[in-house]
Amino acid sequence: MQKRTLVTCGLPYANGPAHIGHLRTYIPADIFVRSLRKEGRDTTFVCGSDAHGTPIVINAEELGTTPSELVTQYHDHFDETFKSLNIIFDRFGSTESETNHNRTTEIVNTLISNGYVFSQEVELAYCPTCNRFLPDRYVEGVCPDCGAVARGDECDQGCGKHLEPGEILNPLCKICGSKAEFRSQEHFFFRLSEFSGFLSDYLKKLGGTSNARNYAMGWIDRKLNDWCITRNLEWGVRFPGHEDLVVYVWVDAPIGYISFTEEWANENGIDWKEYWVNPDGDTDIIHFIGGDIIYHHCIFWPALLKGAGYTLPRAVVASGMVKIGDKTFSKSRGYVVWVNDDYLDKGFHPDLLRYYLASYTSHTKELNFSWKIFQEKVNNELVGTLGNFIYRTLLFAQKNFGAVPDGEIDSGVAKEIEAAKDSVIAAFNGYEFKRGIDDAMNLASFGNSYFQSNEPWKLIKTDAAAAGKVVRNCLQIAKALAILFESVIPATASEAWNQLGMGTELKNTPYDEVAVEIAAGQSLLPPSLLFAKIDDQTIKEMDAILSDRVSEGASKKHITFEEFSELDIRIGTIVQAEPIKKSKKLLKLIVDLGEGGGRNRNRQIVAGIAETHSPEDLVGRQVVVLANMAPATLFGVESRGMILAADSGGAILLVPEREVPAGVAVG
Ligand code: 2FM
Ligand code: ZN
Repeated sequence: MQKRTLVTCGLPYANGPAHIGHLRTYIPADIFVRSLRKEGRDTTFVCGSDAHGTPIVINAEELGTTPSELVTQYHDHFDETFKSLNIIFDRFGSTESETNHNRTTEIVNTLISNGYVFSQEVELAYCPTCNRFLPDRYVEGVCPDCGAVARGDECDQGCGKHLEPGEILNPLCKICGSKAEFRSQEHFFFRLSEFSGFLSDYLKKLGGTSNARNYAMGWIDRKLNDWCITRNLEWGVRFPGHEDLVVYVWVDAPIGYISFTEEWANENGIDWKEYWVNPDGDTDIIHFIGGDIIYHHCIFWPALLKGAGYTLPRAVVASGMVKIGDKTFSKSRGYVVWVNDDYLDKGFHPDLLRYYLASYTSHTKELNFSWKIFQEKVNNELVGTLGNFIYRTLLFAQKNFGAVPDGEIDSGVAKEIEAAKDSVIAAFNGYEFKRGIDDAMNLASFGNSYFQSNEPWKLIKTDAAAAGKVVRNCLQIAKALAILFESVIPATASEAWNQLGMGTELKNTPYDEVAVEIAAGQSLLPPSLLFAKIDDQTIKEMDAILSDRVSEGASKKHITFEEFSELDIRIGTIVQAEPIKKSKKLLKLIVDLGEGGGRNRNRQIVAGIAETHSPEDLVGRQVVVLANMAPATLFGVESRGMILAADSGGAILLVPEREVPAGVAVG
């Protein structure tokens, strides 16, 4: 029996919008899944959003919202964005789901009862100003291995090492900037060191791309330390029996792969254990991930699965990173292309981006995105080669025959088609997406040469049957191209399929159909262009958006005096102050703005100063207020203004040099 396959994609953090760096993993994975299905293989494709971890908690705090609200918003965002790009998962779950909480608890309990978890007092970074332990992204410092600036649990700018709690040097609190000190606390550890021998054997046999295997083997050679799997946080999956601890996000995130399979299986009356607790080994689990999370997938994850008695993945496929205009991807420096704002919302067709990202370079190499290259690839390859061949064939056929003409399929043409099919399948199965797409595109080039050299436009004048034969061969090639390209550019390939008058669904058409002769007499739909050229002006505009973002990232924009005058800054007197329920950071203030406050001189303002100021001490104090701040609602409380404060070790209020009447303008 042929094995069933489960394909997963690394889970995006539900913490911010999708950018094209994300797609480097998801698009090839979707191509791979579509291709397996065309081979007739039973394939399931799952993914979901990663809802936990400190970046989400910090971001929610900064935005004055809750982690739960934030992850719901971005979960929906990713779900919709993937669908818009025709990346279709059988299940797109969330690690915050009940299934994932339950599955994580079960696995952690199994690891505990199998003797793989122990507790130990450890020295952890603690902020004396914020009065709290500083897990993961709450702390910044220096990597003990390579000396680069490191963030919490990862040396993300340097050697890529996973950092255990307490390992980072010169820790600083990310929230208030204070120097952190070390304090001891009991935490729980997974006996990763006991899995060195197992991992070393496992990695030798691991399929997928060699970058994943080799990188992970390098770490095994250096000896593995036990792994701290608990954190002091409220948001996450509780560590069993300890109300003050959650499991580290890198425990419950990959367990999401199991939970999402479970959710999909339950909906479809299938036993999820066939996929994940499978002693017969008749399921292949294949993980598609970004090249920055190899350690987690090739070291932590197989050891956890082994320790808890679950099926081990057969392959890990790691994609290379994405550069923007030859610069290292960086959201803060502006080197980013947002999938919605910069691409879909500008009206570009999803298939063009799918094509670029999958065909620009091999899957494990660094990929450079530039609008200029995007234009060249679209105009030369999709418009000039593929679109041109299908359109000229259909136009000529429609004009001269109105339907698929009679005529024998040349054995040379049939051979080209068969060879293209075999090499596309082999390339995609070997995660060589660029090679597979190039092979399919070569068939389109062959079609163009065939059409050109057989000159059907001349033949039609003298020998209609001979012209018909050329056209039928071209239509056969066009049919094969639609099938071979379906996994890469599903919407456009389906459009071509419909124009060929096939009358079936392309998605469900197996590869073997490339050899089935297109029926003579089948009526053809009026052809239309499959792709349109992208003009220089459009590219100029897209480049301008990118360079504006980069200059904004490099420096704050200069403003004119007129622009400054639009700020209505005034002195106000605080007349009332009270805490806001469920918020540690925010206070609700009523501020008297005198005559300057207009009709509502007593202004309600929400200020993020609760950690540094108590309500009683604030009443009667004068503050500087931005009075024409757009109204906002924070934790359900309306705010109509902003209190100005210096941001240094907490909020330090700006005050007038001496008392002045409330409402006096500042400028
Ligand atoms: O690095 C990341 O973006 C993580 N959210 C990936 C998690 S993949 C997994 F293990 F679930
Ligand atoms: Zn602090």
